[in-house]
Amino acid sequence: MILKDIWLDVKAVKARDPAARSSLEVLLLYQGVHALIWHRFAHWFYKHRLFFIARLISQLARFFTLIEIHPGATLGHGILIDHGCGVVIGETAVVGDNCTIYQGVTLGGVGLNKGKRHPTLGNNVTVGAGAKILGSFEVGDNCTIAANAVLLKQLDNNVTAVGIPARPVKIDGVPIPKEDKKDEAMEYFCKMETRIKEMEQTIESLQQELSVYKNGGDHDKDGQPAAGAGE
Ligand SMILES: CC(C)(COP(=O)(O)OP(=O)(O)OC[C@H]1O[C@@H](n2cnc3c(N)ncnc32)[C@H](O)[C@@H]1OP(=O)(O)O)[C@@H](O)C(=O)NCCC(=O)NCCS
Repeated sequence: MILKDIWLDVKAVKARDPAARSSLEVLLLYQGVHALIWHRFAHWFYKHRLFFIARLISQLARFFTLIEIHPGATLGHGILIDHGCGVVIGETAVVGDNCTIYQGVTLGGVGLNKGKRHPTLGNNVTVGAGAKILGSFEVGDNCTIAANAVLLKQLDNNVTAVGIPARPVKIDGVPIPKEDKKDEAMEYFCKMETRIKEMEQTIESLQQELSVYKNGGDHDKDGQPAAGAGE
């Protein structure tokens, strides 16, 4: 079973990394593949509650590959960890089949609570270089998280999300119309305009009241001379 997983990982690199030349080269020289091989063994020990050995293997893997996968993490088949340096995958993270993870990605938790605290990636998810996915939520199948994005919320299937915090920009490869964003901005500006008008009216009436006090109170509240004033 472990050998089959390793073979699928090698095949995934050959299929999805244009720089990969032969299966032997991938097996011997790709540290993403090495990290996955170490992890498959570490996870076996973890599942058999041999936590020390599991952790020891994952730390050795980290030392040699610069990729840290907690032995408790559940990884599917055909995963490509490209370049890999700086990848961190937390204990309760789940990565579906055929996912692609670039260097500097974190599948991490927020807070110190025990239990499920890391994300669950569906199948065929791509996580761009440096992206952080933080928290216990699901990322749907075929999603793409942009390089350097910080994703803090669940994503439906087939969504491309970019930015900090990451927001959907495409669904099924089709850009989300920016009109929606324009409408939002217009609504905001209209509210601001109304508020400014209210504030101008308030300032005007305060100025009028002030001028009444300045003129010794011999003007009415509209700023007009009071009846009998100056006689
Ligand atoms: C997210 C990604 C897949 C977008 O690809 P795409 O589907 O071709 O999308 P587009 O290029 O049409 O971009 C859509 C919008 O997202 C923005 N965008 C794309 N990537 C972004 C990023 N990393 N950060 C912020 N915004 C980004 C674009 O500027 C564009 O915005 P606009 O519509 O306002 O102009 C791609 O940009 C990406 O980040 N891939 C990761 C690649 C990677 O990590 N490679 C490492 C190799 S070592």
